Amino acid sequence: MSAPEIATLLDEASAGYRRAGRFAWRFARFKLNRDPAFRGILRLGLLQDRASLLDLGCGQGLLAAWLLAARACQASERAGDWPSAWPAPPRLIFYMGIELNPAEARRARVALEAQGERFKVVEGDIDAIPFPPVDAVVILDVLHYLEHPRQEEVLRRVRAALAPEGLLLLRVGDAAGGSGFRLSKIMDRTVALFRTGHWRPLWCRTLAEWRTLLGNLGFSITSIPMSEGTPFTNTLLVAQCG
Ligand SMILES: C[S@@+](CC[C@H](N)C(=O)[O-])C[C@H]1O[C@@H](n2cnc3c(N)ncnc32)[C@H](O)[C@@H]1O
Repeated sequence: MSAPEIATLLDEASAGYRRAGRFAWRFARFKLNRDPAFRGILRLGLLQDRASLLDLGCGQGLLAAWLLAARACQASERAGDWPSAWPAPPRLIFYMGIELNPAEARRARVALEAQGERFKVVEGDIDAIPFPPVDAVVILDVLHYLEHPRQEEVLRRVRAALAPEGLLLLRVGDAAGGSGFRLSKIMDRTVALFRTGHWRPLWCRTLAEWRTLLGNLGFSITSIPMSEGTPFTNTLLVAQCG
């Protein structure tokens, strides 16, 4: 069940995944409804006025579908399509997602195909693909799949790709987060096992270590707990350039 205030938004955001198959559609509805990050990004206006977006480890492109649907719902004249207390969603003119898993990248492309060239999903490793200049970068639950030096290099390149007032939204687990953290680690490793066929090690850090890493790159950071309604201890780091 979805909250009534986001029922239309959820229908709109998941609609394109019907073309990508039953799994893609069901997963989109489940994740967009249950993961507090999607709702939180809109409710808190975290990407407000950001026109170009880079989504690293974009999975099946849910963030792009969600932001497009938000724009459509906000423009709708039907009462109840858009929560009246929420700020205006961003009006994206450019989106690039990078995704390693070919099946995820394909689902993202199918769902976003109506957007044409300005919304693209590139299949490959975020290590290897150049980042275009953008207003905002979003990385949700991805960097712990990379060894620490690779995380540092990706974040350094993110900083270089961002405009002077640019923004990074980075969701991470807190390695000092106790049982919630351990549970999310088990979940992530199990999902990776099903998707890739082998156990993947994870390279985690405490929240304090993530903040230090971002601070050393010149970001000003705000932490927002972002695991409401889940048993995990995830945090969204809002990292502002300048
Ligand atoms: C937990 S999922 C999150 C997906 C998406 N960010 C979301 O919130 O819906 C992590 C994603 O990161 C991708 N990923 C992991 N390592 C990657 C890499 N080196 N380059 C590109 N994508 C990667 C995985 O294939 C997976 O789709």
